[in-house]
Amino acid sequence: MSDPSWQYHEPDHPGADFDAMAEIYDRNMQKYRDVQAEIDEILEYLALRPDQSILEIGTGTGEFAIAAARRCRKVYAVDLSAGMLRYAEKKAAARSASNVQFLPGGFLTYRHEGEPLDGIVSQIALHHLPDFWKQIALLRMAEMLNDGGKLCLRDVVFSFDPAEHERFLNDFISKAGEKAGSNFASSISDHVKKEYSTMDWIMQGLIERAGFRIKQAKKSHGFFALYLCEKR
Ligand SMILES: C[S@@+](CC[C@H](N)C(=O)[O-])C[C@H]1O[C@@H](n2cnc3c(N)ncnc32)[C@H](O)[C@@H]1O
Repeated sequence: MSDPSWQYHEPDHPGADFDAMAEIYDRNMQKYRDVQAEIDEILEYLALRPDQSILEIGTGTGEFAIAAARRCRKVYAVDLSAGMLRYAEKKAAARSASNVQFLPGGFLTYRHEGEPLDGIVSQIALHHLPDFWKQIALLRMAEMLNDGGKLCLRDVVFSFDPAEHERFLNDFISKAGEKAGSNFASSISDHVKKEYSTMDWIMQGLIERAGFRIKQAKKSHGFFALYLCEKR
């Protein structure tokens, strides 16, 4: 069945061309983020049991999906980018993670047909959708989850004071350049200029209106946020 004419076309998102940059993305993230600490933070909240299954949307290079696979029965790892999926699949094979299934799909198009889902995770991906479509994506996630299922959503979400945006952004982007180089700093400028990151108070409203209870909202550096949630 084809999508309706008004449906947001996910591959047209204004973000980077992920197909071409899986390896370099992985390297930059290892420099810029504490990837392992982020994974541990989410796994601690999910407290997965060996009989449980989860879905990750926007899995990228698969770091989280592969780590989570050691703790549960199955991980469904979805992404729009064929290049990212190919790279993540190779990484999973190299790390003997045979219970991750990598699948093409997006927030608005993935239809879950596998095991019932105890958790959904998405990191640094929902900002590819404008706010209305973020809401639709979150409603779809709530529908896919078991009752009491958990949602962990990390993204670039703004909690700095908008009245201070010039000072804040100049400072934030220059620090990113010191840590991961000038190309990476430019990618952050592009993110702010073109992508659909929203403000924390809007994101919290979207999550709650989709039927989730936010158990913890962890904001960092005025620029990132992690929402640990439960389906109501
Ligand atoms: C910035 S990367 C984040 C990757 C990984 N989750 C991480 O934390 O590093 C964003 C990923 O989301 C994917 N993506 C973009 N739009 C998407 C959509 N509408 N649905 C699913 N994935 C999407 C991209 O292909 C890319 O792999």
